[in-house]
Amino acid sequence: MQVEVAVIGTGWCGGIRAETLSRSALVSKLHICEIRPDRLAEVKKLTQPATATLDYQDIIKNRNISVVYICTTPEQTHFPIARDCLQAGKHVLLEKPIALELWEADTLITLAKRGNLKFTIGYSQRFNTKIAYAKKKIADGTLGKPVSVMVSRHLSRSLGKKIASRVKLSPAAMESTHDLDFVFWLLEPAKPIRVYSQGAYGYMQPVNGSYDIMWSVVTMDNGVLVAIGGGWNLPPSYPNYCATWIEITGTEGSLFLDDTQRDNWLNTVADGTRFPMSTMPGEQVDHVFAGQMGPETIHFLEACIMNRPVMVTPESARTVMEVYTAADLSAERNAPIDLPLSNETLAAVSAMTQERR
Ligand SMILES: NC(=O)c1ccc[n+]([C@@H]2O[C@H](COP(=O)([O-])OP(=O)(O)OC[C@H]3O[C@@H](n4cnc5c(N)ncnc54)[C@H](O)[C@@H]3O)[C@@H](O)[C@H]2O)c1
Repeated sequence: MQVEVAVIGTGWCGGIRAETLSRSALVSKLHICEIRPDRLAEVKKLTQPATATLDYQDIIKNRNISVVYICTTPEQTHFPIARDCLQAGKHVLLEKPIALELWEADTLITLAKRGNLKFTIGYSQRFNTKIAYAKKKIADGTLGKPVSVMVSRHLSRSLGKKIASRVKLSPAAMESTHDLDFVFWLLEPAKPIRVYSQGAYGYMQPVNGSYDIMWSVVTMDNGVLVAIGGGWNLPPSYPNYCATWIEITGTEGSLFLDDTQRDNWLNTVADGTRFPMSTMPGEQVDHVFAGQMGPETIHFLEACIMNRPVMVTPESARTVMEVYTAADLSAERNAPIDLPLSNETLAAVSAMTQERR
C-alpha cells in the first residue's frame, strides 16, 4: 500500500525526511512545502516531488495527503502547523519540541486522540542502534535492576548559534530533551519525581544570554538516579558535530556507550580533521542512511500504513517537556523542583518564560 506524504519545512531535517521519503516505495506522491524559494527549489531538484509549494495551506487543503512531517523553525511554528494538520485529519510527525507551552501540547494530544490519528515527536535518538541496544539490555534483565544513567552530550557551537539565534530555549530544552526522552523510555514504567539543574555561562552568553551547558539530576520514583548534561559550545568542527557518552549501571551489570563519533576520521589539507556522519540526525551516504533520522522517518510511515503504535507517544514528549521546563526553573532558583509540576511551579514557569521572551 502506498500513501501521499508531505514535508513542511525542508531545511536541514526536513531535507533529510524528504530525501528519505522520495526513495521509499511506500510513497505514491511526495509533496514539499518551504517558505524559502531557493531552498524549495534545491529540495525539489533533489526529491522530484509531485508538488512543491510556499504555502502550507496547500498541504492542509489536499485531501489525498494522509501523512505530514512538520520540520519547521522557528519552534513557535510547531503548534499552529501541527494543529492545522491534525484538524485536517492528517497523521503527523512533528520535530521536537512538541510545543512551547504545555497547554499547546495538551491541545495537540487531544486533537490526535479525537481524530484517531497517529501523532509522534521526532526524538530520533530512539532509532540510534546503541540506544536501542540499551533498551533491549535493560528490558531483558541483563543489567539487573537499573541504578543510574548518565548522559553527557556536547554539540558544536555553530549549531548552538543557529538554534539560539532563532529561539530562546535552553540547552536542557533543545539538547538534553533527546536524552530525557530516551532515558525515561529506557527506565519505563518509572516516572520522574524531582529535578535539580545548574547551568554555566561561556561562549553563548553574548549570543542570546543562554547557558553554554546545563547539568540536570533527575530522581525517578523507583530511586534510579539520572544525570544529564547537554551543551553547545564545542569549537566548530564537522558541521553540527555531536559527541555523546552514556554510562548505565545496574545491580547485575553495566553498559557504557561511546557515541562520540570519532571512529570515522577524515583529514584533508583544506579542512583538517573531520568526523563525518557525526550529526544527531545522521546523513544519507549514497545508497545507505548513516544515522537515525532515515529509519525513524520510515518507521512512522509504516506505523500509519499498518496501523501500528508510534515509537514516541506525544504523552511521553509532554512529560519530557515538563521535566526540561522544571530544569530551567530549577537552574533559575538554584533549588530542586518536584514533578509533576504543582500550580505554584506552573505559575513560576509562566512568569519565567514571559520574562525571557
Ligand atoms: N531529531 C534531531 O536529531 C533533530 C536535529 C536537529 C533539529 N531538530 C528539530 O527539527 C526542527 C528543524 O530543525 P532544522 O535544523 O532542520 O531547521 P532549519 O532552520 O534548517 O529548517 C527549518 C525550515 O523550515 C522553514 N519554514 C519555516 N516556516 C515555514 C512555514 N510556515 N512553512 C514552510 N516552511 C517553513 C524554514 O524556512 C527552514 O528552511 C527544529 O525544531 C529542531 O528542534 C531535530
